[in-house]
Amino acid sequence: MRSIQVNAERTYQVDISDDWKLELSNVIQSRESFVVAPEKLLPQISLDIPRARILAVPDGENQKNFNVLQSLAEKLSSLGASRESLLIAIGGGATTDLTGFLAAGYLRGIDWIAIPTTVAGMVDAAIGGKTGINLDSGKNLFGAFHSPKRVIVDTSWLETLSQRDRAAGLAESVKCGFIRDEKILQLVESDPLMNIVEIIERSIKVKADVVSADFREEGEREILNYGHTLGHAIERHSGYSMRHGEAISIGLVFAAKLSQRFGLNNQTVDRHSKILQQLGLPTSYESSAWPELYQLMGKDKKRRSGEIRFVTLMEIGRTDRQIVAEGILSEVFLEMNR
Ligand SMILES: NC(=O)c1ccc[n+]([C@@H]2O[C@H](COP(=O)([O-])OP(=O)(O)OC[C@H]3O[C@@H](n4cnc5c(N)ncnc54)[C@H](O)[C@@H]3O)[C@@H](O)[C@H]2O)c1
Repeated sequence: MRSIQVNAERTYQVDISDDWKLELSNVIQSRESFVVAPEKLLPQISLDIPRARILAVPDGENQKNFNVLQSLAEKLSSLGASRESLLIAIGGGATTDLTGFLAAGYLRGIDWIAIPTTVAGMVDAAIGGKTGINLDSGKNLFGAFHSPKRVIVDTSWLETLSQRDRAAGLAESVKCGFIRDEKILQLVESDPLMNIVEIIERSIKVKADVVSADFREEGEREILNYGHTLGHAIERHSGYSMRHGEAISIGLVFAAKLSQRFGLNNQTVDRHSKILQQLGLPTSYESSAWPELYQLMGKDKKRRSGEIRFVTLMEIGRTDRQIVAEGILSEVFLEMNR
């Protein structure tokens, strides 16, 4: 087992292991525990976690709402869960977001453990302490910072993950490669399946380091938004029919082309679309959608005092921030979607 440390409002470890059950039982010991997991994964979670009760939730985004949150909180209460109880999230990013938020609120905060079962969950959602649910007006608009006590990553979960979800999750790894660790790009370019464990481990390290430097997103953490300003708008515009990573893939190509205007070399710009296309991810979007996308970008919660800031790339491993005029943004968008 290898561990990566995250320093947030508390220090915790991300364990990379090939036996999540063993790691989990070491953490739980005799503590009263409640596992939150989507129905779909229940067959893979055998009941040999001592004393743990399983609380099943709906799949995907259908679990990130007040109804599910309330019913889980009521269940915990009726089952007598106390401040010493432990919540264990087993699932993708939707499940770790929901469970972390439940843990943040129940009895004003109890411990939780994340066991991410998707690439997106392993490299992104389970790390960093952001938890929450969706509002009708937008995704992830209601939540809290509440770091898990431990994250246990076991890549054997990925054997049952669809090719689509695996590729979408890797969009975040590609982002980590461009902003911090070029080796990730080489590993993806040579063989993403064979190299999956190292890709995931290196991406976790990037996220853990950035979050440790700026837990509450007051500065440095903004670099993780590379490709996300347009990506989030596309995700919403598609009515969430696209996976987060698919929208981010298009957002990354846009961010690279925008960065080109500020001096990023052509070869690195082209490397973005090549590597994302190699993963089978989309790299363009309907050009007629621009006016709506521009509106949606303005609504992104990451806007600062009315201005939309973009994270740009100066070279691999070195980012910058730019406030860009609408004319340039639309030119870049139309250019990439010709
Ligand atoms: N908190 C954060 O910092 C953060 C960061 C990124 C994304 N997120 C959130 O994460 C979510 C996206 O993550 P996701 O793609 O993991 O979503 P998800 O949890 O919806 O999982 C995607 C699908 O994969 C299925 N699945 C999960 N594990 C599986 C497995 N091992 N085998 C087969 N199927 C499996 C799920 O049931 C679901 O249908 C979004 O809600 C997003 O907002 C949060």
